[in-house]
Amino acid sequence: MAPATVYLNGDYLPLEQACVPVLDRGFIFGDGVYEVIPVYGRKAFRLEHHLQRLKNSMQAVRLNNPHTDEEWSEIINNVVERNDGGDQSIYLQITRGVANRDHRFPGDAVPTVFVMSNLFVMVPTEQLEHGVSAITLDDIRWQYCSIKSIALLPNILLRQQAVEQGAAEAILLRGNEVTEGAASNVFIVKDGVIITPPKTDCLLPGITRDLIVEQAHEHAMPVEEAIIKQQELLAADEIWLTSSTKEILPVTRLNDQNVGTGIPGPVWKQMYGLYQDYKQTLREAD
Ligand code: PDD
Repeated sequence: MAPATVYLNGDYLPLEQACVPVLDRGFIFGDGVYEVIPVYGRKAFRLEHHLQRLKNSMQAVRLNNPHTDEEWSEIINNVVERNDGGDQSIYLQITRGVANRDHRFPGDAVPTVFVMSNLFVMVPTEQLEHGVSAITLDDIRWQYCSIKSIALLPNILLRQQAVEQGAAEAILLRGNEVTEGAASNVFIVKDGVIITPPKTDCLLPGITRDLIVEQAHEHAMPVEEAIIKQQELLAADEIWLTSSTKEILPVTRLNDQNVGTGIPGPVWKQMYGLYQDYKQTLREAD
């Protein structure tokens, strides 16, 4: 396989040669935002949605957008073209740039822009057949979870706690209400109705989440964007985790109890099929 080519501040270069100064505010403060964009058949998936969220994140942290949408698309497509694999996962990060360490914004720093591609790794068949385990944990994060910030320490701690308890993901509760997973959005199914929490500052507005809501409407599957209480989560017939890398993952064990019948449910099966069909349409499009 050819060595990975990445984009850094205007250059395309081998990953090993891509270096950022230690005073970059991403390194010093976690002062930056990011995106993860799946690529199917060498085509970036829902690119305009990802770019819109990127712009929202930059605006929320008052980071000047260094590129137009056309320039972003070109950079992303160039990275896709320069790397192997029809299916990839693009990681894009912008930081506030290099400056002497001082909390306040630097006057003259130029944002650092980094884009890399990883091979898209499909969720193992075994996880799709049997589902995964999750645990519930307190959402210990801040009040702006709608920003896709690179400062992910709370998410990392939460995911690690889940992993150490033998679970694939932590489902987070703010008080009595479900927000999202440590790195995913959450859906439940109850009596045939698909439910996901409404978009607020307590969760990331997932691109996968939005597509699922859209597909449900298009295929006349009952769907609601509504608060999910802890008791409703525990009593759900189905639980799904969604993200650009995991797509739609069924949770069949929650806190060591079966979810529903303990196997991936029929509504998940239908939605997973619709999602795969949607990807296939994208692959086949000109
Ligand atoms: N994370 N919520 C959180 C906290 C996330 O980190 C993610 C995705 C999502 C799902 O968003 P989307 O459907 O747009 O991928 C929700 C990415 C994949 C990551 O950090 O690697």
